[in-house]
Amino acid sequence: MNPHKELFMLDDSLSFLNFGSFGACPRPIFEEYQQWQRKLEASPVQFITKIGLDALAESREALGKYLGAPARDLVFVTNPSYAGNAIVKSLPIQAGEEVLTTNLEYGAMDRTWTYYAEKRGFVYRKAPISLPIVSKDEFLKQFWSAANEKTKVVFLSHITSATALILPVEEIIAEAKKRGMLTIIDGAHTPAMLPLNLQELGADLYFGACHKWMMAPKGASFLYASPSQQAWLDPLVISWGFRSATPSDSLFLDYHQMNGTRDYSAFLTVPAAIRFMEENDWWTVAADCQRMVREWAPRFTEALGVASHAPLSSDWIGQMFAIPFPTENPVALYRKLVDHYRIEIPVTEQNGHTFVRYSFQTFNEESQLEQLLDVLKNERR
Ligand SMILES: Cc1ncc(COP(=O)(O)O)c(C=O)c1O
Repeated sequence: MNPHKELFMLDDSLSFLNFGSFGACPRPIFEEYQQWQRKLEASPVQFITKIGLDALAESREALGKYLGAPARDLVFVTNPSYAGNAIVKSLPIQAGEEVLTTNLEYGAMDRTWTYYAEKRGFVYRKAPISLPIVSKDEFLKQFWSAANEKTKVVFLSHITSATALILPVEEIIAEAKKRGMLTIIDGAHTPAMLPLNLQELGADLYFGACHKWMMAPKGASFLYASPSQQAWLDPLVISWGFRSATPSDSLFLDYHQMNGTRDYSAFLTVPAAIRFMEENDWWTVAADCQRMVREWAPRFTEALGVASHAPLSSDWIGQMFAIPFPTENPVALYRKLVDHYRIEIPVTEQNGHTFVRYSFQTFNEESQLEQLLDVLKNERR
């Protein structure tokens, strides 16, 4: 029996192969979360105006150490969409100028960019990356061939959602810098799936979730802004942090942290999540899980007679694999997988391709992948 299995509160009647969407919180982390909520209820005024704020500073310190960034360049936000929206809404870009991205981006971020591009007249240009991806060089060639003299900003996922691919963000950031372009990275899936050092990576702006692979409670995410980009970044909500009566030494922090009444408990649980991962040697756990993901990837593609959409190496594949699986009705297939087979797994469509994406976490068993393969063989048309 896997010793970590008992730590999770997941419903046993479902085969849970979708850690990627919203994570899952182990008991010790969840208990810490509830303790913060009890402290809040015991003394709402003291907590929201003082105790919680002091604890938030400690929590940002711990997150900064974990992510390789000064705490003063990080703020907590509820989810990656929130961070992405704050950036896109106040981005200093003129009508006619361009943002370069890929055709592999997450639907919510795609919608955010499209909304503001239409409203403000800038161009949101998707480099058409063709699948299967054959090599890093070819990927970079396809990406940069969509750039032009109007491109001012580069935006892309560190790890994509539907296709579950690790993208070569290091190379893209380095090249964008040479070309004088601003870099914005959607790292929703990265923390605790891949080692991350934000200062070394060098993106101008980076956001990610703590409630996915870091296993913090839902509603814990972060926005990183390098010091040179903080001045233009408006908070989504203007509140007491603007012309604060009790300013800190950082406008970035005052603006983005003072957000009206809210429960900081999920943010405050981040140090416990980091401690939990350290105490349980989580990089080894993650490496074992990722090995399993990659071992099974060719078994799925070969048995189902489909071509993989990328090389099956650790350059591209982490703790999730998106099995290319042609289906006319992804929604109906998803419902059948959950309701009939009792497998929780996302089925998504992107650019005419459909994918069934499995995640592998410490509590998963190989037998769950065996069952998934049998089911997909059955459902293949
Ligand atoms: C690439 C990517 N970006 C962003 C998000 C986060 O979205 P949300 O803000 O809805 O939690 C996800 C969630 O899965 C994602 O995969």
